[in-house]
Formats: sequence, structure tokens, C-alpha cells
Amino acid sequence: MKYSIREYGDPVLREVAKPVTSFDSDLKQLAEDMLESMYDAEGIGLAAQQIGKTDDLFLLDVPAEGDVDEHGVPNNPEAQMPLVLINAKQISTGEYESPYEEGCLSFPDINGNVVRSEAVEIEFQDVEGQVHTLKAKGLLARAIQHEMDHLQGILFIDHMSKVKRMSMAGKLKRLKNETRSSLGLNG
Ligand code: CO
Repeated sequence: MKYSIREYGDPVLREVAKPVTSFDSDLKQLAEDMLESMYDAEGIGLAAQQIGKTDDLFLLDVPAEGDVDEHGVPNNPEAQMPLVLINAKQISTGEYESPYEEGCLSFPDINGNVVRSEAVEIEFQDVEGQVHTLKAKGLLARAIQHEMDHLQGILFIDHMSKVKRMSMAGKLKRLKNETRSSLGLNG
């Protein structure tokens, strides 16, 4: 089943995820449905809040050919996509931070630079409840940080510069109002 993607202005995007405790068939179905929804929307990552849920779960399918260093060498040759990451915890981040223009399925037609750590190490569970660790750099590291933010109710616009946010204020307000009126929340 395909979910529709929740957009900016939907209150669920500001909710904090709750830990997943049962690794049952419902969870596997949710992960499968989220994958279908992510591919349909042509995203490389999707967090539970973006389909209206608050389970501590996100997905990634970062294409290896788009995740290379300045010499064209793959950043994360061992990563197996797609990844379903449950109850993820950050263990450490890299030494350096860098800006990069990000997008988000919950913000159609909005992009902006976000400064994030260039590497991250996390621990997570898979759909069976097995614990794994993952070290990532480059685009995958960035996508992990972006999605883990979603699970805390944090959105990429929160990290953008004040100047950038001011320049997008009209667009953001329009999107928020459209979303809220489609949910019957205005007035
Ligand atoms: Co996003």
C-alpha cells in the first residue's frame, strides 16, 4: 500500500518518534509500504513522520553512483541498499562539517544548503530486531542525519541560515497554508 507524503504544515512532521518494540509482521508491512511510497515519490530517504506515523523507523536508498568523493571513488562501497533503520542511535560524528544543497519530499520545490557532519556512525535494528552498526560518509552520512532529524521532529529548514529562510518565507508560508487547509486545520 502506498502512503501519500505528508508535507510541511502537517503537525505530524513535528512529532518525536516512539521506539519500535515489536518486530512483527505489521512492522515488516509498514517498512514495505514505506519503501513503495519512497520509490513512488522518487526519494532517497523517508522517515515515518513523512507518511503520518511516529514509529522510530526510516528508510534509505542512496544510489552508489551519486555518492562518490571528489575523485569519483564511492563513499560507501559496503552499504547495501535499500536500508531499513529502526531505533537508530548516533554513536559518533566525523571531525568535519560541510554545506550541501538538500531537498526533502515534504518540501516540494524547496532546496537549501544545510551544514552537517561529513561522516556518522550509528547503531540500528533491522526489521527482525537484529542490531547493526553502520559507518557512513558523504551523501549517505548526510541522508542519515537528515532522516534521523525527521524522527526528532526536526526539519531541514531548521538548519538553514536566517537569510535563506527569509528568502523562502513566502514559499514556506504558502506550502504550510495549503497543507493546513487540505487537512482542515485553517481558520
Ligand atoms: Co526530509
